[in-house]
Amino acid sequence: NDSISNYLRSHIRTVPDWPAPGVQFRDITPLLQDPTVFRVLIDAFVARARTHKPDVVAGLDARGFILGSVVAYQLGVGFVPIRKKGKLPFTTVEETYELEYGSATVELHTDAVKPGQRVVLVDDLIATGGTMMAGKKLLEKLGGVVVEGCAIVDLPELGGSKKLREGGLDVFNFVD
Ligand code: PRP
Ligand code: HPA
Repeated sequence: NDSISNYLRSHIRTVPDWPAPGVQFRDITPLLQDPTVFRVLIDAFVARARTHKPDVVAGLDARGFILGSVVAYQLGVGFVPIRKKGKLPFTTVEETYELEYGSATVELHTDAVKPGQRVVLVDDLIATGGTMMAGKKLLEKLGGVVVEGCAIVDLPELGGSKKLREGGLDVFNFVD
């Protein structure tokens, strides 16, 4: 598992000062672009998610869609998108959370999960943890049971995964 971490880490590009000065942006596009690496990544996600026997995979806008939909397909379960506000056409539940500057709102269709369904939540990266926590709250508003939040990368110095665990969400990541 150390070897998979190192393999994936070696295909993540760090872009300095993007989108703002001082930010070291972890860019996962090299991981997606190489078919061998992409397969290793997805197989690892699927193996992890399978242990939770989820009924549904939920993906966080936008990079969580790229990963989550393929994981759902491989597990033979449905995929539900958690979207930035104003994108979903049907009735929604919404959750607003704090960013470093300002706030953000995400939405989920009210029929996305049924009470008691087990959900694995997928995204590319955990920074402050705000996005993943908002996703958990949305799924729980509908009675979903969020069994784990999975990401490729956690930035532990930002405290997101710690906050998520303290908030009752089990978190898994390959690289930090
Ligand atoms: C990034 C990333 C996570 C979130 C992590 O998405 O893909 O979803 O931020 O940050 P947090 O842990 O501090 O909440 P972004 O908002 O840049 O959206 P995008 O995927 O649509 O570019
Ligand atoms: N990479 C991708 N998404 C992010 C990052 C990052 O470094 N920081 C906050 N969201």
